Amino acid sequence: MISDKMLEALNKQANAELYSGYMYLSMSAYFESVNLRGFASWMRVQANEELSHGLKFYDYIVERGGRVKLLPIEQPPLEWSSPLEAFEEVYKHEVKVTGLINNLVKIAVSENDYATQNMLQWFVAEQVEEEASADEIVQRIKLAGSDGKGLLLIDRELAQRKSE
Ligand code: FEO
Repeated sequence: MISDKMLEALNKQANAELYSGYMYLSMSAYFESVNLRGFASWMRVQANEELSHGLKFYDYIVERGGRVKLLPIEQPPLEWSSPLEAFEEVYKHEVKVTGLINNLVKIAVSENDYATQNMLQWFVAEQVEEEASADEIVQRIKLAGSDGKGLLLIDRELAQRKSE
């Protein structure tokens, strides 16, 4: 049996993951609009990944006999001033999500919910990866600076990302 407090927190996290997907899809649309198709493709893969994170919470709630409650998904921003600004926002957003996951772990500990603590470990590890990959791309865009050729090279590399 899952506690009401834990259930509410997990439903909120499912919503936060779906919002992440919505935000990255919005970034994908932005990159399409500035003809950076590799960046757009990377964001689309990321959006799909976030949807799968949301579904992991959804499936876990069902498995524990809880009720999934879908909450409204906030509208994401629509425009960014540059690829650097967009990826800096990705990094900031992932740091925020790490905080949300850590808070869920805290609740699971205080509720003596060992199963949820165990399930959340996957997300704890995933956030280390998410922050690192966003930061790496931020640093590479900074290195490219105002060199358009450098940016196109990054665009070509980001196009290689495949869905897991
Ligand atoms: Fe599912 Fe990027 O956090």
